[in-house]
Amino acid sequence: SPKPQWNDFLHIDDFDKATIMKMLDRAAEVKALLKSGERVYLPFKGKTMAMIFAKPSMRTRVSFETGFFLLGGHAIYLGPDDIQMGKREETRDVARVLSRYNDVIMARVFAHQDILDLAKYSSVPVINGLTDYNHPCQIMADALTMIEHVGQLEGTKVVYVGDGNNIVHSWLLLASVVPFHFVCACPKGFEPDQKTVEKARRAGISKIEITNDPKEAVRGADVVYSDVWASMGQKEEAAHRRQVFQGFQVDEQLMKLAGPRAYFMHCLPAERGVEVTDAVIEAPNSIVFAQAENRMHAQNAIMLHALGL
Ligand code: CP
Ligand code: NVA
Repeated sequence: SPKPQWNDFLHIDDFDKATIMKMLDRAAEVKALLKSGERVYLPFKGKTMAMIFAKPSMRTRVSFETGFFLLGGHAIYLGPDDIQMGKREETRDVARVLSRYNDVIMARVFAHQDILDLAKYSSVPVINGLTDYNHPCQIMADALTMIEHVGQLEGTKVVYVGDGNNIVHSWLLLASVVPFHFVCACPKGFEPDQKTVEKARRAGISKIEITNDPKEAVRGADVVYSDVWASMGQKEEAAHRRQVFQGFQVDEQLMKLAGPRAYFMHCLPAERGVEVTDAVIEAPNSIVFAQAENRMHAQNAIMLHALGL
């Protein structure tokens, strides 16, 4: 029988605001329980998760595996040597085989179409652990972190500085659902996907700005956010990008322009001295490790929702 579409977690804007906020509330609730040391809530007891990684990972792998275990389940890591989707085996076959063993599939892939195909052919929920197009689990964790530190997500100003990449697309899709002010400051030619920008603008929920001027962009920000200039799959462009992205490093001067209330955020891994200085990432207003921690809690809530628990 076909699974309901909402069982998958592929893009933030597949959900309405109430559902997103409910997931974030649930994340905070289960986080408090886990932090208290209680190990009595085991909703994933007897369940297994297949985790497909076509790319490297620390946070995504450890947070999914640990979170699923702490709530009673068992997660299986499948690296590039185990599953070569589309090479050793067709994605639609991978989806149907894993669905016969596992209750949920999490995947980190290159082409976004791969996660869509996995979801289409699997009979269990599929969770997007990053594609070349987006990274919805990261931005759910970031939203949770903002609620904890800024106090709320609604009405805030988030200024992303750098490459218009998968992280930016997930911010734009969140902004299609929850109202805040999102600004992406990137070099010319490195803007986010135009269709995604238009989609977010058309939603009419948030103020969306795409600019090439980081200094102007950061004024009055609640959050200044950065990510690597060369994503996984683009590492051979790193040297060229370092030239083109001059002026887009988040340094103490840029944080000063942002103003005293601005937090610094980064999905990590970071290249210190490239997209962000060591001083900024180590400053008291940097909340990058809180973000990393919240990956696990946001994803626990996402998995609970995906499994209808
Ligand atoms: N932020 C993030 O997804 O980190 P990993 O690549 O280490 O999973
Ligand atoms: N944009 C980065 C995010 C890593 C978590 C990448 O895709 O490599």
